[in-house]
Amino acid sequence: MLSRQVAAKLGTYETPFYLYDMELLRRTLENVTSVASNYGYRIHYAIKANFDARLLEIIREYGLGIDCASGNEIRCAIEAGFDPKSIVYAGVGKRDKELRYAIEQGIMAINCESTEELHVVDALAREAGKVVDVALRINPDIDPKTNHCIDTGQADSKFGISYEEILAGVEDIRSLRNLNVVGMHLHIGSQIRELHVFENMCNKVNAIVDNLTSLGFDLRFVDVGGGLGINYDLPENEPIPNFASLFAIVNSHLNVGSREVHFEFGRSIVGECGELITRVLFNKTTATGRKLVIVDASMTELIRPALYGSYHNIENITSASDQREKYTIVGTACESTDVFDENVSLPLTRRGDLLTIKSAGAYGMSMASRYNLHDLPGAVYSDRL
Ligand code: LLP
Repeated sequence: MLSRQVAAKLGTYETPFYLYDMELLRRTLENVTSVASNYGYRIHYAIKANFDARLLEIIREYGLGIDCASGNEIRCAIEAGFDPKSIVYAGVGKRDKELRYAIEQGIMAINCESTEELHVVDALAREAGKVVDVALRINPDIDPKTNHCIDTGQADSKFGISYEEILAGVEDIRSLRNLNVVGMHLHIGSQIRELHVFENMCNKVNAIVDNLTSLGFDLRFVDVGGGLGINYDLPENEPIPNFASLFAIVNSHLNVGSREVHFEFGRSIVGECGELITRVLFNKTTATGRKLVIVDASMTELIRPALYGSYHNIENITSASDQREKYTIVGTACESTDVFDENVSLPLTRRGDLLTIKSAGAYGMSMASRYNLHDLPGAVYSDRL
């Protein structure tokens, strides 16, 4: 863990801030791209996980494409130098303005999530005098065995088109003259640690691709989304997620002929390379005896614990005490759910100590808010320390 090694250098930065391990990011990208190349898989980075410009610069160096969820994400990716032809755009509710921008930029594919959206994209493409490449984002109805807050591919979810809707609208979809249906897309959920779930996903994809083909769609690519989980409990044991096992599973179960296979990873690329560094403001004990450590970060810098009850491993990186205590770590926001964790065993922790909240590189900074008019947190990069 980087923060402990460089703790002596961190004292002068204004807290809270995100600390990024650029070397670990490079090693992660090296790993995912080299294993993917064994199978010819193409990797996109889900920019929603973290749109930090320096991280994007490195991610681009390794040749990844981008997966976007909004027009502003597409703009951010293009400004960071990514080729529009490597950008896919999914999202259950795309505004006309965003669709027009995506069409104008000529991105790789707009992943459409309803038949109504297909009609709107067709009309906007006609207005622009273009024929646009789209993928059908299918709802595969798979339980990804993850936190319910972040599953996306079950039958009742808002994401994707149900297979029944495609069947009912097939003639209609094929009649849309300004669309080329070139791909099939799905994303079953995030933080998936039980890899056998991806076997089920492959079996579903095989059947869906066969059916779409027999309905007359000529698919060039299959995009199976992201979702590979990271080790929040013991990040030091697994700093680089297990891309090799995931790809081996997909290779032995996916059966889509010579079609391109794309992935869209967010958390597994940047999750472990970021830590949130925060300073202890106060200690106090509640009337019930709970020892609170009040830190200068809050749910406005890292909302995952408050929003999903997510666990992040926390350490004190400056205390030299041998004595340990159990603390509840709370933030500064005016919300009772602004708790990072309870019963955290730390060495004696006092005002001024620095704590690290680990595995915060994904969905940390990108979900930060200015509630209570907090300033947005800064970023410190290991190669500039
Ligand atoms: N593709 C699509 C269409 C997605 O919706 C997502 C994430 C990804 C790819 C990337 O998934 P990943 O590889 O990161 O699992 N804020 C939540 C996670 C929300 C994920 C949203 N979609 C969290 O902090 O856990």
